[in-house]
Amino acid sequence: MSARLGQIEWPRRTERLAVRRASVDDIDAIFAIRSQPGVSEWLTTAADDRDVFQAHYAAPDRLAKTLVVELEGEIIGDTMVSLSNAWSQTEIAAQAVDAEAELGWVIAPAHQGRGYAREVIEELFRLCFDDLGVRRITAGCFAANEASWRLMERLGMWREYAGRRDGLHRSGRWMDGLAYAIDVDEWRTDGVRPDPTSTD
Ligand SMILES: CC(C)(COP(=O)(O)OP(=O)(O)OC[C@H]1O[C@@H](n2cnc3c(N)ncnc32)[C@H](O)[C@@H]1OP(=O)(O)O)[C@@H](O)C(=O)NCCC(=O)NCCS
Repeated sequence: MSARLGQIEWPRRTERLAVRRASVDDIDAIFAIRSQPGVSEWLTTAADDRDVFQAHYAAPDRLAKTLVVELEGEIIGDTMVSLSNAWSQTEIAAQAVDAEAELGWVIAPAHQGRGYAREVIEELFRLCFDDLGVRRITAGCFAANEASWRLMERLGMWREYAGRRDGLHRSGRWMDGLAYAIDVDEWRTDGVRPDPTSTD
């Protein structure tokens, strides 16, 4: 399904950044960022062994949904766009194909706190909703990862689920998890959540 990212013209440019599809040649730069303290801690797959990392991130299906973020030609982070089918009733399942996108994000510690994550994810919202016809964008994080859930709230995403100790961190602790989402109508109306009972 990430093949659809291949139909987009790259790079996408924002005011300060460029976003493009990742290649095997980017693995060292991605590893250098993801292996830093404060980053690896929150990621689904740890970045502490270079070979294990390469096997995971250079796998064709993972690479196909990875985008790198560049500032003046230097890779300062990476993001994930993972398209999936939305739930639907059987007879109209064709209309739900690739209707959802899960996003993920990492910005190198040296470049955090300057609005880069927000700038790049806002561009990915435009990419997903305007260019790929996605209906709903989702993302999740540990509740203890405040930088990540604050980012989602600044982006206008809604907290849809707060789980009690529903995720196992590699420290061995069961930690609270959060899930956020925004749909195309909310995005087009600047984060105003339309009344689900409205017949308009
Ligand atoms: C989550 C993460 C991507 C945020 O990246 P970031 O580029 O620092 O995010 P932003 O700069 O857009 O926002 C961060 C803070 O900087 C502030 N900020 C935004 N623009 C700014 C600017 N121009 N100057 C100074 N500060 C600014 C924001 O208000 C925000 O502050 P707040 O959290 O107190 O509200 C980053 O912390 C990260 O990579 N974390 C580790 C990996 C991770 O957890 N990934 C997600 C796993 S679920």
